[in-house]
This record gives sequence, structure tokens and C-alpha cells, in this order.
Amino acid sequence: MTGDAARVFFAAWPPPEVQRTLGDIARQAQGECGGRAVPAHNIHLTLVFIGDVARGRLDELEVLGATVAAPRFDLIVDRLDYWRHNRILWAGVGECPQALRTLVERLQQPVGAAGFRIEARPYIPHVTLRRDARRAPVDSRIHVDWPVTEFALVESAQRERGRAYEVLRRWPLTG
Ligand code: 2AM
Repeated sequence: MTGDAARVFFAAWPPPEVQRTLGDIARQAQGECGGRAVPAHNIHLTLVFIGDVARGRLDELEVLGATVAAPRFDLIVDRLDYWRHNRILWAGVGECPQALRTLVERLQQPVGAAGFRIEARPYIPHVTLRRDARRAPVDSRIHVDWPVTEFALVESAQRERGRAYEVLRRWPLTG
């Protein structure tokens, strides 16, 4: 990333207690799964990944975020899973709620229409818990209730000690 570009994405940023619970699950998987836990304060669910954009275009994304209206919903995060190709241990959902798909689609549409590049692959909700992990845990069941009441535009910056996320702007979902 250069000085005049920012790596950004739209995300559901969990309330502190959900971050803490998922952060605990991430740390407790140390022995079985190896790798590095994502610190609780960095835990999130990406909705639409945009990637590097010129800083001058961040305003556009903020204006666009304000136009998106979608209902709030409850996310039941109920399983751990492992991707071998990138060695990520992640938390996911058995069934993706329709309200989550709706929110993702309502974000993708204007982001794409404004000329930002968006992911063509089908959306798989995943919350990264450990990086460089060796394997999935034997018991993959968890249960975390996450009331998703807002979404955010987030910047991911590379720092000496890894990635730092900064919430640039947040918007409430409708009641
Ligand atoms: P990850 O945790 O699996 O790496 C900031 O980097 C956020 O965007 C993270 O949630 C990251 O997922 C996700 N992300 C990074 N690159 C991406 C891509 N090409 N497509 C979709 N999501 C991506």
C-alpha cells in the first residue's frame, strides 16, 4: 500500500462482549490448532472487501455507505472451520441468514456501480480467529449470539506488529 492509498472493506464490527467471547475462543484453540490468535479487538466479519483505493475516494465510500438501508439481524456463530490453503481458523454459521445476504448485496450493488472492484466469488461469512493455523479443532461446535445492529467502513493498515484496523465510519441497521 502506498501513502495515498488505503486498504478498506465494509464489515460488521462486533459489540465488545462478542469480540471478547470470540477472542477467548481464538486463544483457547492455541494448543490444538497452533498459529497466532487474532486479538479480540481486531475480530470482525467482512461484508464487502474493496482493497486498495486512493484516499481521495474514501469520501465516496462514506457517502455510499450512508445510502444503504437494511434490517438488523441476529447472527448465530455456531462452528469453527479451517482453510488449508491460507491456514486460517475461522468461525462461521451453519446457515447464512437472509438478512446478512441482503446487507451484503445492498452494499455490493452501489460499490460495484461506483466502479470499485468487488469479489466475484460467492459470499461465505467467515470470522478469522487464528492465522498460520495447522488444523481444525476436533470439536468444531461453538455458540455465540451476535446481534448485528450496524455496519462499518474499516481501514486495514500494515503496522510493525501486524494489521491494525480503524473503523472510519459506522452506520446503524434499521430496527
Ligand atoms: P481474512 O481474515 O480471511 O484475511 C481485511 O483484510 C478483511 O478483509 C479480512 O476480514 C480479510 O479476510 C478480508 N479480505 C482480505 N482480502 C480479501 C479478498 N481478496 N476477498 C475477500 N475478503 C478479503
